[in-house]
Amino acid sequence: MLTVTDLSAGYGSRVILKDINFTIEKGERFVVLGTSGCGKSTLMKAIIGLNPPMKGSVEFQGNVLEYPLPENTDFYQKIGILYQSSALLNSLTLLENVMLPLTMHHPDFSLKIGEDIACEKLSMVNLYEHRNKIPSELSGGMKKRGALARAMVLDPDIIFFDEPQAGLDPVTTKELDDLFIKLNEDLGITYFMVTHELLSIRRSAQKVLMLGGGGIIFHGSFEDAEKSDILAVKKFFNVDKYGV
Ligand SMILES: Nc1ncnc2c1ncn2[C@@H]1O[C@H](COP(=O)(O)OP(=O)(O)OP(=O)(O)O)[C@@H](O)[C@H]1O
Ligand SMILES: [Mg+2]
Repeated sequence: MLTVTDLSAGYGSRVILKDINFTIEKGERFVVLGTSGCGKSTLMKAIIGLNPPMKGSVEFQGNVLEYPLPENTDFYQKIGILYQSSALLNSLTLLENVMLPLTMHHPDFSLKIGEDIACEKLSMVNLYEHRNKIPSELSGGMKKRGALARAMVLDPDIIFFDEPQAGLDPVTTKELDDLFIKLNEDLGITYFMVTHELLSIRRSAQKVLMLGGGGIIFHGSFEDAEKSDILAVKKFFNVDKYGV
């Protein structure tokens, strides 16, 4: 699905990540973790072209992406993005928010078709009856699910999540994690998920990429991450035992 080769990323002349290499297989739940400030969001922003890589390449479904990515790139039609803040527009209803990627990428679609597709996604996240509310009338968890419906509206092959569980209570987090796993299993959507929620990682991670010190500390299966002898990995999974 996605291969990152010798990627460096940063801001201005400041390099945050160097020599990053990994591959994500189709249908995989790939989790990026690491302590705050290690560069998780920077990696995601580099791949999706919000802050293009300084060096290296990203291959998506066999094609090398050319940064800066044009707005009408095929890549943006095949991915979904779920930002930490949900980023729903308050001037639009939930339904209009979910329809936004369709309106942008398929201006030829009739309003009726767009609404039908958006309503189907809203039903999947149990928000159909709230479709005419504006985001400020929704709870944090509802906004996250609404943002997930928007991320799914183009039937993406991969969804990029940046800490989707941030700020949610444990019950809502579990509901959201279960929904992510269900969509991954039922629809085969590949996940690139940045998170440092241990419970969510335990529930959902298949592959793990741990960043630190400007590079990769660990890359492998979740089971191997939990058994790892690398001190930074052990600390991450069991900070009370190994200290900070
Ligand atoms: N827009 C920006 N301009 C300049 N520096 C930035 C910018 N965004 C992030 N940084 C810096 O890049 C480094 C990595 O930040 P990043 O947001 O990728 O961390 P993170 O791993 O996502 O952390 P968190 O878990 O807190 O979200 C930090 O030192 C941060 O100060
Ligand atoms: Mg971040």
